[in-house]
Order: sequence, then structure tokens, then C-alpha cells
Amino acid sequence: MALTFDSLAEVALARDLLRRWWGLELGLSDASGAGYARTSHATCATLHARGGACDAELRAAAKELATGTAAKPVVVVRRCYAGLTMIAAPVWGTSGLAAIVYATGARHEASTSDVADRIAGVLGVQPAEAEALAAVAPAFAAADLQHARDLILSAAAAVERAQPLVIAPTTFIHPFTEIVGEAPAVREVIKLLTKVVKSEATVLIHGESGTGKELIARAIHYHGPRAKKPFVVQNCSAFNDNLLESALFGHVRGAFTGAVKDNKGLFEVADGGTFFLDEIGDMSAALQVKLLRVLQEGTLTPVGGTKPIKVDVRIIAASHKDLATMVQHKQFREDLFYRVNVLKITVPPLRERAADIPRLAQFFIGKHWRNAGQAPRLTPSAIARLVAHTWPGNIRELENEIERMLVLAGDAQELTGAMVSSRLSGAAQHGTPRTLRDAIAVAETDTIVAALGRHAGDRDAAASDLGTSRALLDARATALGLDHEAPV
Ligand SMILES: Nc1ncnc2c1ncn2[C@@H]1O[C@H](COP(=O)(O)OP(=O)(O)OP(=O)(O)O)[C@@H](O)[C@H]1O
Ligand SMILES: [Mg+2]
Repeated sequence: MALTFDSLAEVALARDLLRRWWGLELGLSDASGAGYARTSHATCATLHARGGACDAELRAAAKELATGTAAKPVVVVRRCYAGLTMIAAPVWGTSGLAAIVYATGARHEASTSDVADRIAGVLGVQPAEAEALAAVAPAFAAADLQHARDLILSAAAAVERAQPLVIAPTTFIHPFTEIVGEAPAVREVIKLLTKVVKSEATVLIHGESGTGKELIARAIHYHGPRAKKPFVVQNCSAFNDNLLESALFGHVRGAFTGAVKDNKGLFEVADGGTFFLDEIGDMSAALQVKLLRVLQEGTLTPVGGTKPIKVDVRIIAASHKDLATMVQHKQFREDLFYRVNVLKITVPPLRERAADIPRLAQFFIGKHWRNAGQAPRLTPSAIARLVAHTWPGNIRELENEIERMLVLAGDAQELTGAMVSSRLSGAAQHGTPRTLRDAIAVAETDTIVAALGRHAGDRDAAASDLGTSRALLDARATALGLDHEAPV
């Protein structure tokens, strides 16, 4: 990747200061640590020419940065084998580590004589020459190290920001514009949808939680001939059996205690339109029989009623469970299964369409951006982190994450990698946090983010809601990597 480097103002400033204060040179390598471009000074140049020591160190730093689990991209400080220090900061691209900005050759925690001894040992030169080489390396106090780190990190962040972030407009054109994505699995679904909307057949939508089952059901209704008639949704797992029966089929006066008048069921409400039965796998056996009758005969009998009522309803059913397996285990009626499973749409989980993540993230920024002015843009590091996550909660989880990042960003122009939940990018990526410290960080982060969300990013209000001071909230937000001022 051709990265903009030398022409950037922050890079020029960092380079200038590193040179003037410590005589160090700023370098850029590719993501593997190869392409060692600049040696800081004569000591490094000599070591490099004779042993390639810095190449190996840079490759090791690259490994450390690429596999870093910290919520915030870390700056790696490594001790090279001559006792000299390397400072390396990551430049993130949309598909992970893109490059490394670094400086080598400071003496940090090592005295001149230590370094000289090592140089003599490594290069096999005379003590006098080793001493001369060691003397060139600038000494770093802790504060120097901190300053140099900050400069290198800001240069790396500038390089990252300067990378063009192109989320190309889609070339996959279809009428279902509310469905974002163009991964092969999504193209299949869209292809199927164009056929499904023309028919009146019952549809079964299968997919994990949060994959967009309801979105697809709505698309079928609103792009089809019933669009002007009602679209009714009922989740079959949300109710107890009696309530669900009465909600679906209605009841007549006196059918049960409290039934003081006739009540229309949702099937009647949906007459002429579409009824979306969500989580149909959770329906009881008794209700499955009643539903079967609606599908077979187009009639239903309200609870307590005697006269069947005719309805004209298109059914779309959804389930995150596999109904075919439920049939095998006698948990779902086989005859109903065949009635429901006329046209089947399988919605792929987000991890099988990771290529769509940048475009979906962009879409959700637009969807949830409520303020005036231009919505913030995602930085490559943010995208890299979003793409790396496996999204067990699928698109809904991604949408929630983007909403959360917008809250954190406040009026900042960028959504950065540092704003991505540590839950996604940090140690907790592989399950529950392991250490007490991680667990506390996760809980603290969630609490602060929730408070900021309740108060639209107003930190004073969030602090008082949390029973803490603004200063402490700011300090904790910074420590947890929640600040948009945080580098990268
Ligand atoms: N391809 C997509 N493009 C744009 N938005 C999407 C897409 N898929 C899902 N969404 C959005 O993600 C959210 C979750 O989708 P939806 O409610 O349809 O999922 P679901 O499969 O019904 O989830 P659950 O199983 O939790 O009920 C919604 O806000 C929906 O608009
Ligand atoms: Mg749903």
C-alpha cells in the first residue's frame, strides 16, 4: 500500500522534533516490519549494516502490534539487542495493521558502557570503536521516552488519517434499497426476494438472531401486491399460550374471565395484508393446530367462538431455530412445517458477509446521526476492528455498536478505533474477561457509555447521574480509552 507519509504536517513536525531534541530519525516500514527505511544514526546504521538487528526487532514489533489485544492500539517499546530502544506505533488500515512508524536507537535504561559492551560483543569490534558507537546514541530519561512515544504515535495517527478510506458505492442495484450489502450470500437472498415478492406463497425465514429476518419480512410485504394493506407482527415466544391464542385469533365476549366484549384477533387485523409470525418455533402444539387450519382452510375460530371466520392473510414465518430438526424431534408438527416451508429464505450471519461490514457501518452512521452538519466518518482503525469481530449478535449488534460510538464521539468528526468497545477489540474478544481488572474495565465502560447515552453525550449530566465528578469521569474515560481525544 502506498502510504502518504513525508508530505504530512504532523509527520514533518514529529520528525523535526525527534531530530532536533534527540537526533533520532523517523522511519516507516510495512506491516510485516520489512522495508526498514531509515536508520536513526550512525550506531543504528552500523548495527544494521553488519547484522540487520533492527530488521528483526521491527518484525517482532510488527507481530506484537498486529496481535495486540489492548483496546487501544499500543505503542511498542522494545529493547534491541545492543541495549538500544525501539519505539514503534501502528498505522491501521481497513484490513488490520497497515504500516509501522518507528524510531530506533535511543539509550533507555542502559548506560553508555552497557551499550558499548554489547556492541563490542555483538559486532566484535574494539572497545574504543564500540564506545564511539555507543556515545552517538542519545540517552532517554522516562520523560524523553514519553515525549518520543507521543510524537511517534501522533505521526502514525496522521498517516492513518491520511489514508483514503473508500467505501465504494455499491454496484449491486436492486429495488430493496433498505437491505444493505452485496456479499455473495446477500446477493442470493435478494435474488430470491425478487421472486418471492411476486408470489403469494407462505415464506419461512431462517436465520440467527439479529440477521435481519424482520427487515426481509417487511421488504416482502412492502414490495409486493399487498403493500397498501396491513403488515402485522407477532412474536410467538413473547406471550403465554392463552394470551397468544387470544391475540392471534381474537375472542368472543365471555370466553374467559375479563373478556367483556368481542375482540378481533391479529389475523383479522391483517386481513388482506401480511402476517409476520416471528419465532414460530416457540408456538405450542395446540396453537400449531389452529394455525394449520388457517393455512389450510383460510378460516379461524376466535377463543370461545363457534362460527369460523374467513381471512385472507399472507403468512411469513421466521425462526432462529431449525424447524426441520424440530420436526425430527417431534417439537414441531410436520404437516404445519410443510405448509410454512413453501419458500425458504436463509439469512446469513454477519460473519459470513464480513465484506459488508464497512458499508453497513456507514449506513448505520447515517441512520442514527441526529445532529446538524456532516456525520462523522469511520477511520481505518475503527473499520479494521469492526471487521475483525465475529458479531454473535449479528447486524443488530453492529447497529448498537455504531450508535454507541456516535454517542461517544459527541461532535468529533471521526469514529476511531479507540471508540470501538473493548468488548469487541480487547481481551474480552474471546469470551468473558479473564482477569478481574478486565472485568471491571468492561463493567465500568458499559456504565459510562450508558450514562453518556442517557444524556446525549453531556459529560456534566452523565457525571452527576453516575454520582461522580466531571473530573473523575473524564479521567476514567481517558483511562478506558473512551475519549475521542485519545490518539488513533
Ligand atoms: N442488510 C441490512 N441492511 C440494513 N439494515 C439491516 C440489515 N439487516 C438488518 N438490519 C437492521 O438490523 C436490525 C436487526 O434486524 P432485524 O430486527 O430484522 O433482525 P432479526 O433477525 O429479526 O433479529 P431478532 O432475531 O433479534 O428478532 C434492524 O434495525 C434492521 O433494520
Ligand atoms: Mg426479529
